[in-house]
Amino acid sequence: MESQKKRKIKITGTGFYAPDKILTNFDLEKMVDTTDEWIFTRTGIRERRIASEDQATSDLAVEAGKRALKNAGLKVKDIDLIIVATSTPDTIFPSTACWVQKGLRADHIPAFDISVGCTGFLYGLILAEGMILSGINKRILLIGGEILTKVTNWKDRNTCVLFGDAAGAVVLEESDDDSGILSYYWRADGNLGNLLSQPGGGSRIPASVQSIAQDLHYLQMKGNEVFKHAVKCMGEAALEALKSAGLKREDVDYLIPHQANIRIIEATGRRLKIPREKVYSNIHKYGNTSVATIPICLDELHKADKLKKGDVLVLDAFGAGFTWAAVVYRW
Ligand code: ACO
Repeated sequence: MESQKKRKIKITGTGFYAPDKILTNFDLEKMVDTTDEWIFTRTGIRERRIASEDQATSDLAVEAGKRALKNAGLKVKDIDLIIVATSTPDTIFPSTACWVQKGLRADHIPAFDISVGCTGFLYGLILAEGMILSGINKRILLIGGEILTKVTNWKDRNTCVLFGDAAGAVVLEESDDDSGILSYYWRADGNLGNLLSQPGGGSRIPASVQSIAQDLHYLQMKGNEVFKHAVKCMGEAALEALKSAGLKREDVDYLIPHQANIRIIEATGRRLKIPREKVYSNIHKYGNTSVATIPICLDELHKADKLKKGDVLVLDAFGAGFTWAAVVYRW
């Protein structure tokens, strides 16, 4: 399952898109019984972006995809597969990836979604590696896009302060040098699925007047439980992936964790004994954008010229399922 290998795939372009509308903690103070101080000290979040009423996840994803392609110096015709990771699809079917393919006018390349919660971008990287190194695809556009604020219960202060909307994208192809994915580790545990879910609207509890009256169409989470598992599993994933790459924690230039809560991010850094300045975080600006958090961090670091050739990155995530994964990447 894990691998340390010679042939690699690498990221040749990055991009992200976040809607213009900003919702601050002070705005939330007017909506539920909370304070900026509580939200910031418990989560690290100051503000988040909110999609407009007429925006769906694919609209954000198309924009992020265009930006990643531009950054790679490529055109839509240069890619041969679109993978979209999302838990908030435009529609249950068709897949969001098909809506993205339409939006990009990427006729008629294959396109599909993966639904793995917040770990979706890392599962997507691992999947893309398999597709490219097996010779099935040459250049893949991988997008993590989410509009969690449309499945958020705005009366529930336990969850509504946490999430934001955005999409992040990368272009992936076979590496012609030393850079690329060095190793990975991925896991899932469906026994814990009920701790973080959107229970209604699927085939278990189809949408009905009753399901809506019971708020089952909203995201539900046992925050404390999720927190404990996230810290443990993200630590495990990063250590196992480093071991598989034959690297030590001292070799890491950047830990780029999924941005769910600053306390999870810092606890993961401490568990791995990686100094705080090497642990990247931008959660204060965007909140938890689920699958979009890691590609947004990558794009920010890349565009700010903070990534040097040869830098070792550990991408590390945890999400609904539960699922968790880490990817060790040489820039
Ligand atoms: N404002 C003020 N008080 C609040 C708020 C709020 N927004 N939310 C909860 N509280 C209260 C609670 O009601 C509780 O009060 P009580 O003691 O009177 O009952 C108190 O604050 C403490 O609540 P806890 O849930 O124990 O607070 P905690 O410190 O655990 O923080 C949080 C809650 C932020 C949700 C945290 O548990 C967390 O971040 N969990 C992980 C969430 C996460 O990572 N989810 C996603 C992972 S996967 C993915 O990204 C989809």
